[in-house]
Order: sequence, then C-alpha cells, then structure tokens
Amino acid sequence: MSAPKFSKNILCIGAGYVGGPTMAVIAAKCPQYKVTVVDINAARINAWNSDNLPIYEPGLLDVVKQARGRNLFFSTDVDAAIKEAQIIFVSVNTPTKTFGEGAGKAADLQYWELTARNIVKVAAENKIIIEKSTLPVKTAEAMGRILNANEKGIKFEVLSNPEFLAEGTAIEDLERPDRVLIGSQLTPEGIKARDEVVEIYANWVPNEKILTSNIWSSELSKLVANAFLAQRISSINSISALCEKTDANVSEVSRAIGMDTRIGSKFLSSSVGFGGSCFQKDILNLVYICQSYGLTEVADYWERVVLMNEYQKRRFVQNMLKVMFNTVAGKRIALFGFAFKADTGDTRESPAIDVAKQLIEEHAKVVITDPQALDNAKIDLADYADKIEFIADPYEAAKGAHAIAVMTEWKEYKALDYKRIFSSMERPSFIFDGRNILNHEELFKTGFNVFPLGQPNHKHF
Ligand code: NAD
Ligand code: UGA
Repeated sequence: MSAPKFSKNILCIGAGYVGGPTMAVIAAKCPQYKVTVVDINAARINAWNSDNLPIYEPGLLDVVKQARGRNLFFSTDVDAAIKEAQIIFVSVNTPTKTFGEGAGKAADLQYWELTARNIVKVAAENKIIIEKSTLPVKTAEAMGRILNANEKGIKFEVLSNPEFLAEGTAIEDLERPDRVLIGSQLTPEGIKARDEVVEIYANWVPNEKILTSNIWSSELSKLVANAFLAQRISSINSISALCEKTDANVSEVSRAIGMDTRIGSKFLSSSVGFGGSCFQKDILNLVYICQSYGLTEVADYWERVVLMNEYQKRRFVQNMLKVMFNTVAGKRIALFGFAFKADTGDTRESPAIDVAKQLIEEHAKVVITDPQALDNAKIDLADYADKIEFIADPYEAAKGAHAIAVMTEWKEYKALDYKRIFSSMERPSFIFDGRNILNHEELFKTGFNVFPLGQPNHKHF
C-alpha cells in the first residue's frame, strides 16, 4: 500500500470571509496537509472554484491559485469531508439573534449547533473540533456535550481558535498575525489536541506568537479584543463632536494622544461610525453575557460603545441637514463609498446603510457609488430601489448633485479630479468628508463648502 499523500486532513465548515481566506493561507503554507472547505451555499462554493471569488480581498486570488486543486479543495459535500477529516474548523456565521430570548443582543448559535449535530451524525472516529467562529464564552461546554453525547464511542475534543483577521488586510493578517490564540481544556487529551493545532500554525507563525490558554479565556478574549477596538473608535468619535464645538481638530488630537506609547496610534481615526459584521454583534453579545451574569454596570459600560456609534451616524446626517439649509428634500446627494471600510466589498452593518436610509427619509435623491460594493449595496437597499441610483463612475454619480458625502476611505477618492466634479454640481456645492481623507483646503479653493468630521469647516458663506 502506498503512503497517504497528505499527513493531515483538515476541514473547514463555512466558506465565508473567514473560512475561505484562513484555509487558503493554511493550504498555501502547508502543502503536506489536505485542506477542504465546505459550505451549504453552492453558489459560494462555485465562486471559490472560479477566478471570480465570492469576496474581494487584496492578494486572496493569488493565494487561492497557489493551492487550489493541489491541497486546497472547495466542496458542497459536507458529509464526505467530515468523514475523512481529523481536524475540523467550524467557521459558520454567528449573527445577533433576531428572535426570542436575547433578541437583538445574544448570539444566534443555531448554525453552529446544526453543524455540531451533523458532525456527530456523520463521524466514524475521534476528531478535534475547533471553534473558529466568534462565540459566547462557555459555548465549548455546550458543544462538547452535544458532540460527546453519541452512542458510537467517538470522542471529540473541542478547542477555541478565534480569528483576528480584519477584512481588507486578511491575507497580510493571516500570513503575519500579531498572535494566534489556541484555547483548550487543560486535560491531557485537551493539551494533546491543542499541540496538534499549534503544529499547524508553527509551519509559518513564530513560536512566541502562538499563545495557548484555557478555553474560556480564549473564547472571551475574542469578544474583548473586538470590544476594545470598537471602544477606541467610539471614544475618538465622541471627541470629534466636541472638536466641532470648540474649533479643535480631531486629527490633531488623535496624533497627539496616539504618540503616547501607552495609548498607541492605531484605531484612532474618527469616522462616520464603525461598521462590519462583528464589532456591533460581538459587543452586544458581551453585553448580553454580562447581563445574564447580573453584571448590570459592566453591561451598561460596554453598551455605550454601540450607542455612541449610533449617535455618530445620526449626527452625521443631522449636520448635513443643518448645513444644507435644513432641507435635503429633492436634492441629489452622492455617497462616495458604501463598503464598511476600504478594500472590501462587504457592506454588513456599513454606516452608509444608515446614512442612505436617513437621507431617503428626508426625501433626498440618493446616488451611491463604490468600486467593489455596489452589488451588496443593491441588496441592502432593495426596499428603496426606486429611490436610489447606483452608479459605478464617481464622476457620473456626482453630476448634478448638491452634495457629496464620503462614506468609505477608498484611496481612489483622493485621486479624483475635484475641479471637474465641482463644475458638474449644483451650487452651493457641499462635501461632507465622513472619513477625513480629502484635501480640504484644496477643495475649498476649488469652490466647495467643506465639512470634515471633528475639524473646523471651510465655507464660502
Ligand atoms: P460568513 O457569513 O461570510 O460565512 C459563513 C458561512 O457559513 C456561509 O457561507 C454559510 O453558508 C456557511 N454555513 C452556515 N451554516 C452552515 C452549515 N450548517 N454547513 C456548512 N456551511 C454553513 O461569515 P464570516 O464573516 O466568515 O464569519 C464567520 C465567523 O467568523 C463569525 O462567527 C464571525 O463572527 C467570525 N469572524 C469574522 C471575521 C470577519 O472579518 N468577517 C473576522 C473574525 C471572526
Ligand atoms: C475587526 C477587527 O479589526 C478584527 O481584528 C476582527 O477579527 C474582526 O473585526 C472580526 O471579528 O470580524 P473588521 O471589522 O474586518 O475587523 O475591520 P476593522 O479594520 O476593524 O474596521 C471596523 C470598522 O471600524 C470599519 O467600519 C472601519 O472603517 C472603522 N474604523 C476603524 C474607524 O472608524 N476608525 C479607525 O480608526 C479604525
């Protein structure tokens, strides 16, 4: 009998923003393993098997092409893949629950639990199951019970290996992570399973960056990391409001405080608000967990981070209204960018969704442009389709507009010919820079009335 071609069979269930890139990097770095990614969404799997990947992520196609067909496989045959894998990462979605107990805050674990039950049904031998999805602390306990309540004598070891990648920089984050965290039970079996997963990452991640911990710390650290990151944005956004009242400049304040190495310079850019699929849901989940342990003050403390974010989005539109003579009814307003950040086509929880909806409520004529996110924008705003235009070319989008509002910090928007844009707009012409990325002095000289965030405005009247 010939030796097996691969030294390990690794499976990931869930081929989304995390499962796809994470497994592509593992496969590219470790040709000795067979890596399979499965999903119940056949269209997504077909896209992973094409050159038109289901998500836009710089550098992703190159990494996928390196390994696909060699040791990286995308498939819808979930059961066959479960049978042959020794190590299973589960990276299905864990959105905020929309129904029943905990609606609006708790994590909806139905996809995770269905996956666990399917693994038990199909498996014929012991396996390591890894929580890659972001989950409430203590989920591994419930999962361990579901998995190990089988009558086949099969033993499942549940580990936590949360993912810290950010969209737009996923490949860089995966290739050179700040750390990889692996939580396990501290039993001999738990530690043996943990060491097997350490071995995977040790193929390219330096040992000192591979952290191991108890499983509950690992689950909780993921929620806390997102809560701390989001808290920085809400903190600086709260200060942007104060800057606008006092003629201070939030970018100068950010720079000044960020140079204190104890504070640090990252994640201090004021914006129209944070978006993305995780910050809000993970903080609300943390809030729910604290509430369920009776820690009301702790829950309230973290909930303020989300409330401040809501305020920032609302404040942005209120300011537009006030400046544009208290009415935007019938006025064409071009939103530059719809993705929740640059370098992704993802629009989940994008602040642009709220801004667009508020402007429509004010009877503005909204036009949306974005280099990657127009398809998702059309889905997000399907209920308002007759009230919105979607135009790929920003020059066309701005034609005849009273105002431009920058929603996403795409570098393309810095390089546009704003003289040309100005000449095609209504007067007075406004720019609201929700990301503070444009050259405000230049725009003012061109003739625009410029309203940055948390900085003195430049207006001709
Ligand atoms: P996603 O929605 O893009 O992908 C999840 C995939 O799981 C979907 O394609 C869905 O069809 C599939 N799925 C659901 N149930 C399934 C089942 N029973 N069998 C097979 N496939 C199934 O989600 P995502 O953004 O990749 O996030 C996944 C998890 O990772 C979440 O818990 C999220 O909080 C966490 N996370 C996300 C990011 C991010 O940047 N998006 C970063 C770190 C962690
Ligand atoms: C975030 C975290 O950065 C990742 O570590 C984490 O793995 C991930 O959530 C997750 O769990 O899903 P992501 O949401 O992809 O990653 O993107 P970020 O770069 O964190 O940006 C989130 C939002 O904050 C964006 O809307 C961004 O524009 C905004 N932001 C970010 C600011 O407004 N100001 C900043 O200074 C930084």
